[in-house]
Amino acid sequence: MEVSYVLVTGATGFIGAHVVDELLRRGLKVRGATRSMLKGKAMLEARPNFASKLDFVQIEDFEKMGVFDEAVKGVDAVIHVASPFTYNTTNNEKELIIPAINGVRSILQAAAKTPSVKRIALTSSFAAVLDVNRKAPPYFTYTAKDWNPLTYEEAISPITNAVVAYRGSKKFAELAAWSFIEDEKPSFDIVTLCPPMTFGPVVHPMPKVEDLNESNAMLWSIAKGEKLPVARVPFWIDVRDLAMVHVEALVRKEVGNRRFVPASPERFSYSMAAEIMRNEFEWARERVRVEEEQKADDSHGLDGEEVTRELGVRYRSFRETVVDLVAQAWELSKKTDES
Ligand SMILES: NC(=O)c1ccc[n+]([C@@H]2O[C@H](COP(=O)([O-])OP(=O)(O)OC[C@H]3O[C@@H](n4cnc5c(N)ncnc54)[C@H](OP(=O)(O)O)[C@@H]3O)[C@@H](O)[C@H]2O)c1
Repeated sequence: MEVSYVLVTGATGFIGAHVVDELLRRGLKVRGATRSMLKGKAMLEARPNFASKLDFVQIEDFEKMGVFDEAVKGVDAVIHVASPFTYNTTNNEKELIIPAINGVRSILQAAAKTPSVKRIALTSSFAAVLDVNRKAPPYFTYTAKDWNPLTYEEAISPITNAVVAYRGSKKFAELAAWSFIEDEKPSFDIVTLCPPMTFGPVVHPMPKVEDLNESNAMLWSIAKGEKLPVARVPFWIDVRDLAMVHVEALVRKEVGNRRFVPASPERFSYSMAAEIMRNEFEWARERVRVEEEQKADDSHGLDGEEVTRELGVRYRSFRETVVDLVAQAWELSKKTDES
């Protein structure tokens, strides 16, 4: 599919910035949407070679219908990455669920008014796939056909914790996109991507290590010597591989209106991460805790191979991902300590 200018929402976030870089690497023009022009400016300053290929628009509140109307003008595809990803909430419906759904609706509505847009790739999540009540044995494998059975009422209930509410935000935002396609029959198609835990080095503006995004912060907490977190799922993907998946999903015409579950075939646990850190970094030998080993749950699987077959993306090893992130975060933490 002929794509030359792409709007990326969430362009100054962890995954979005890698998507921006992957598009630029392939010679495409990129418009990044961000809530903070300061972050947009920092992204531009860090990429002087792409000054003519990269621009930013500020979308302060992406929930309002109409906010993307100007931003989509002139682009021929969109990668919608932006969505709230935090477990630090006081009102899950207001902070997670409604913004996620309205963000999707507002970008799709803007694109539907813009005939140049041919495709929208959407960052959903394995959270929209996972069924916490589905237990092995017998062994089963999640695929892109599976949906989280969580109801809207359960997701917004005041007794629901932020982790479960986040899963609802991803499910109902993705469903809003599929309903839009069915009801409005716009001239573009969509591809949705449902990655599990995403880890790896950071390329978006991150002044201090405390600003690490939610998933990488779990790995960094181990490097700091904290108690091992509990892995809710044994599946993961490197952010650089995921960025490639987004771009392949945009340019391959034949995958229109498909849903994918990109994921490494290698399972992970946080004790594997701790062991990698102790083996690879001198400073981590004393610092990283040796606790009872957490075994990666191998009672069920997730079919990330379809992505390799159909989008041509292969997966990095967990070791490479952990080493690249932790080395970067360690250097940054030393700078913060010195200042
Ligand atoms: N990291 C993971 O493990 C993982 C796994 C599966 C799926 N995902 C999905 O990947 C996407 C990006 O997450 P991330 O890991 O890159 O986290 P992140 O760094 O926190 O990025 C979230 C992005 O969404 C934007 N955003 C959040 N709330 C917004 C709002 N109310 N209005 C406008 N923009 C908003 C942020 O914009 P600003 O930059 O302007 O602040 C940021 O760019 C999300 O859709 C998330 O659900 C993440």
